[in-house]
Amino acid sequence: MTTGSSAGSTDLLEELTPAVERYLERHIETSTEWFPHEYVPYEEGRNYREEPWQASDSRLAGIAQTCLELNLLTEDNLPYYVLALWDVFGGDGVWGEWSRRWTAEEGRHSIVLRDYLTVTRGLDPVALERARMDQVSHGYRRRLANEGPLDGVVFTTLQELATRISHRNTGKLTAEPSLERLTARIAQDENLHYVFYRDVGTAALEVDPSPVVIAMERQVLSFAMPSAGVPGFGERAKAMADAGVYDLRLHHDQVLVPVLFKHWRLQQLSGLTPEAEVARDRLIAFVAKVDRAASWFEESRARRLRLEPVLEGLAVTPAV
Ligand SMILES: [Fe+2]
Ligand SMILES: [Fe+2]
Repeated sequence: MTTGSSAGSTDLLEELTPAVERYLERHIETSTEWFPHEYVPYEEGRNYREEPWQASDSRLAGIAQTCLELNLLTEDNLPYYVLALWDVFGGDGVWGEWSRRWTAEEGRHSIVLRDYLTVTRGLDPVALERARMDQVSHGYRRRLANEGPLDGVVFTTLQELATRISHRNTGKLTAEPSLERLTARIAQDENLHYVFYRDVGTAALEVDPSPVVIAMERQVLSFAMPSAGVPGFGERAKAMADAGVYDLRLHHDQVLVPVLFKHWRLQQLSGLTPEAEVARDRLIAFVAKVDRAASWFEESRARRLRLEPVLEGLAVTPAV
């Protein structure tokens, strides 16, 4: 497999190698081993041949099912994320070592979610497998190759943090303690991934802030959750936003503001090129726009939720 890196990218990868070594070592020291089977209540399992799945088997609310299915299909797409990482970071040295370790850890997420949902009959296993086949056969692949390693670092920082929030809030939404414990465990992995990428981003800013700011602008303005390629994503994402699992408010307050302003200190960076100055201004204006859009969305959601019961009460049964 080729690295797909240009000469400039190769220099950058080399310059960031000490930081990647440091943060990989820290990651290995901080992360703790865990086992998917310890999070699955096997005592609840029943034979599907004797008792095929039916909708009443699931004790999860419809919205919880939607969120879990979307999160699981997102994790199922792992082979394509590996390809994307390989494109931007290459498979050599400590960068490759990180990508492989990351891949091994990510693999657990779909294993544990699927095992839990299959054993507890939370989702229709046939529909779920068909959705997985559909998803992975089409292969949602985010193209970062032409953009380079900095885009990779910025995107993965945002995405890992967003995924951490989404898993944790999905668990809370189910109000099922064993599932909350499971999603919190996944979120813990996502958090360590986020911290790794975020700190590599900080190291890149110390090397040369201008290209990082340009990559930030590109990635923040085009950000989409990795699940954006899943069939029916739009409707499901809307349902997740309505349920407060992941919405613009969270994206602004818990992802963009802490990462860009607190950790990467975007507003305080000095010595930027004119091009990077323009990118910074555009980025700051964009974040303010996300804030306004989030407020608008919150108000319209509150209005809609207030109105829904009234509208239901007005519904007229058609004459037959
Ligand atoms: Fe994951
Ligand atoms: Fe992750």
